[in-house]
Amino acid sequence: MIFTVAIDGPAAAGKGTISRAVAERFGFAHLDTGLLYRAVGAIGGDPALAARALAPADLARDDLRSLAAGQAASRVAVIPEVRAALVDFQRRFARQPGGAVLDGRDIGTVICPEAEVKLYVTASAETRAHRRWLEVGGDAGQVLAEVKERDARDMSRAEAPLKPAAGALVIDTTAMTADQAVEAACAAVAAALRAHR
Ligand code: DC
Repeated sequence: MIFTVAIDGPAAAGKGTISRAVAERFGFAHLDTGLLYRAVGAIGGDPALAARALAPADLARDDLRSLAAGQAASRVAVIPEVRAALVDFQRRFARQPGGAVLDGRDIGTVICPEAEVKLYVTASAETRAHRRWLEVGGDAGQVLAEVKERDARDMSRAEAPLKPAAGALVIDTTAMTADQAVEAACAAVAAALRAHR
């Protein structure tokens, strides 16, 4: 069975929690595509060369989760050659037999517009910054400023900007618990699976 769940949305909206839960519940493979861009940013040097040479071990680096790594990822993600180098791997992952969940910024718009389920997971900038601050600590005002800066860059870039895909179900998690958000996503996946079989 080929079945893709494409989950896009801004930083700290809940994509990761939802994606992992959907993958586990339905037995699908999961790819956090932000890790690809974080690894390219962390490797340094020429970002296009780094993207073309990216290896599985690069995704296992332990310095990819920091705010700085997120900013570096967002900066290399505007480079068309970087995005182009990562497309085939993501497309193959999306259409592998057995089902796949990919989360990122352009999965439903560019990588896999034919995905059987497209979700756009969002929340207010303040809510997302608060969640990120609970994880990383530091100065709350600066975390909010960085969230807004990354939103602006990810949404305004020329190449594959962040926006809801055509036909995407929007899940606004601002006033939801993680469990509620997971259940909303799983209900959409279950309905699409019934229609698919
Ligand atoms: O989801 P994340 O915070 O790990 O993503 C880090 C950055 O990588 C994000 O700010 C923009 C970029 N990115 C992207 O351009 N396209 C994707 N599919 C995933 C991430």
